[in-house]
Amino acid sequence: MKVAVVGATGLVGTEMLTVLAARNFPVSELIPVASERSKGKEIDFKGKKYKVVTPSEAIALKPDVALFSAGGGTSLEYAPLFAAAGITVIDNSSAWRMDPTKKLVVPEVNGHVLTAEDKIIANPNCSTIQMVVALKPLHDKYKIKRVVVSTYQSVTGTGVKAVDQLMNERAGIKDGEKAYAYEIDLNVIPQIDVFQENGYTKEEMKMILETNKIMGDDSIKVTATTVRIPVIGGHSESLNIEFEHDFDLADVRAALSAQSGVIVVDDPANLQYPMPKDAHGKDEVFVGRIRRDESQANTLNMWVVADNLRKGAATNTIQIAEALKEKGLI
Ligand code: A2P
Repeated sequence: MKVAVVGATGLVGTEMLTVLAARNFPVSELIPVASERSKGKEIDFKGKKYKVVTPSEAIALKPDVALFSAGGGTSLEYAPLFAAAGITVIDNSSAWRMDPTKKLVVPEVNGHVLTAEDKIIANPNCSTIQMVVALKPLHDKYKIKRVVVSTYQSVTGTGVKAVDQLMNERAGIKDGEKAYAYEIDLNVIPQIDVFQENGYTKEEMKMILETNKIMGDDSIKVTATTVRIPVIGGHSESLNIEFEHDFDLADVRAALSAQSGVIVVDDPANLQYPMPKDAHGKDEVFVGRIRRDESQANTLNMWVVADNLRKGAATNTIQIAEALKEKGLI
């Protein structure tokens, strides 16, 4: 299969190459794509070198599938051109996520919605993906009424510039380029993406709207506070979930353990709980600190951690490609 990775020189694009190789996706030819600036640069993939091309050159090479992670502008401009040439696009930007004509997919949750008509498929926001994977088995069993989520998000979600800012600050280098309006080392920034008129940030609204779309249930109420912390390796989330029906904690643990893509790490006696350090480089979503909210009926607290560049981005994109392949759609 001819696979184009658009944004191959970026953080997520690089992770896509790692995941394609690690999961043995049947790549017969890789087409690394980036901006004009990177044209001709060599990219290593499975021991072979491939030259970076521009998006227009990539269309002419007719890949079977194109994995996009080159920002919303690039997706808006080029995804329709790839699709018009018969190339299936899986897009990691927010450009198409809420378009009612496009599917927004987390394979473990709603992989069944994919059909031959889908030529541009959207990959959800990183924080949303790890949350819905953990919510899905509980919604099926107890029906979720409302979710209150607070996030603790890794700087890798912002890109290379943000990782550089954190590392420069740690090394005492003050005049480097800045990805954030404030220092991130030894700090916490309660703003991810731009503010909306309602006082929420765009990231918070993504978590709310995308959750309803992926779960296929607009009755689930979600409220979110998204926060950047000086961490590399993954996003963490505190979830407070109110259900229609009561639950037994042992059954909750069993349902989460049985969910594909989830690993339960929950052993307080031995200080075992999910942390970004442990999730780093892994494809799964880790769930722990599972306990009853004793202040309200039918309500659960839990802690959810995943590598935002993996399950939150690259891994989910490649799992969508795997699902399309399994259905014979690419
Ligand atoms: P380039 O390295 O040539 O700028 P990150 O979000 O980690 O900064 O990565 C962004 C990715 O998107 C990079 O691979 C970048 O390529 C790519 N990119 C940015 N603008 C374009 C564009 N107009 N066409 C193709 N790729 C682009």
